[in-house]
Amino acid sequence: MATAIKDIQEDPRERALQEKVATGYQLEDVEEMTERYKNVLVNTIHIAADLEVVTLPTYSPAIKTSPTLEDKIAIAAACQDELGHAQMMYRILEDFGYDTHSFLFERDPEEWRTFQMLEFPHEDYIESVVSMCYGDRAGYITTVDLEENCSYAPFARSLRKVNYEETFHVSHGERWTRFFWNQSEESRRRVQETVDFYFPLCTAWFGMPDNRKTRTDQLSYRIRGASNDEMRQKWLSRVVPFSESVGIKVPAHYDEEQGKYVLDYEPPIYLDEEKREWDYDRQITWEEQLKVWKKGSKHKVPSIARVISEEWGKDLW
Ligand SMILES: [Fe+2]
Ligand SMILES: [Fe+2]
Repeated sequence: MATAIKDIQEDPRERALQEKVATGYQLEDVEEMTERYKNVLVNTIHIAADLEVVTLPTYSPAIKTSPTLEDKIAIAAACQDELGHAQMMYRILEDFGYDTHSFLFERDPEEWRTFQMLEFPHEDYIESVVSMCYGDRAGYITTVDLEENCSYAPFARSLRKVNYEETFHVSHGERWTRFFWNQSEESRRRVQETVDFYFPLCTAWFGMPDNRKTRTDQLSYRIRGASNDEMRQKWLSRVVPFSESVGIKVPAHYDEEQGKYVLDYEPPIYLDEEKREWDYDRQITWEEQLKVWKKGSKHKVPSIARVISEEWGKDLW
């Protein structure tokens, strides 16, 4: 294995492409790609597309229970946006010989790539707006990085619209999170409880810490520009001041000495999935964390199966 990686790094075609994209060069054509570049690009787009689709079943219960017609419309509009993002990404994958229909409807739900942040159906509208405020913000930081840095120009260009729409989801989330914080004692408690659950999920969205990461092709082929830790820091620099301005407690703060935001706990920590509670005093190993991520929550397979079987239309209202 080590020899194989060494061979590729020393392959002059691969090295030449890495040097070319490092100068800011963007590829327009599949013909310009090396096999290794193509693999890492396709994998990145494929995961991004799957992540857009799996937002739909997370919103589903909140559409049914949201208090007003406006709330239902807001969530339905976000779902439409997310599906549009997925459609655009699968469409790009067709240039690489893949078929959108088989991706969506002919794959075993187990095969879908999901991130833990998107594996829990929202129990109510407050959870939806909190997840837009914190979770869509995390997603937005990732897609903005891809728009600004991705060396495959057609993908970078197509993300302009995606990011424009994501800003609506984030602002909607911020506005209504603030609203529910101030509405009543009960809604305030629910906001805090939901943030307590989502905060560690969102920090984990950006993946392993840089010093633990072994696969670095996304950066060396400039599929994206920022590392996991850099993106996580960017996310913290937005959500921590927002939370403090509202009064929401979050397990992170700005550390004057280090000149950056730091978490008040050492990840990874144990999650009781049933209770949706993190045990900040119970650290787990990264190996255990990877197993949890790989397996997915108990909702993953049923949620995806539901999308595939198209129960959506008739069950929506
Ligand atoms: Fe999206
Ligand atoms: Fe979104």
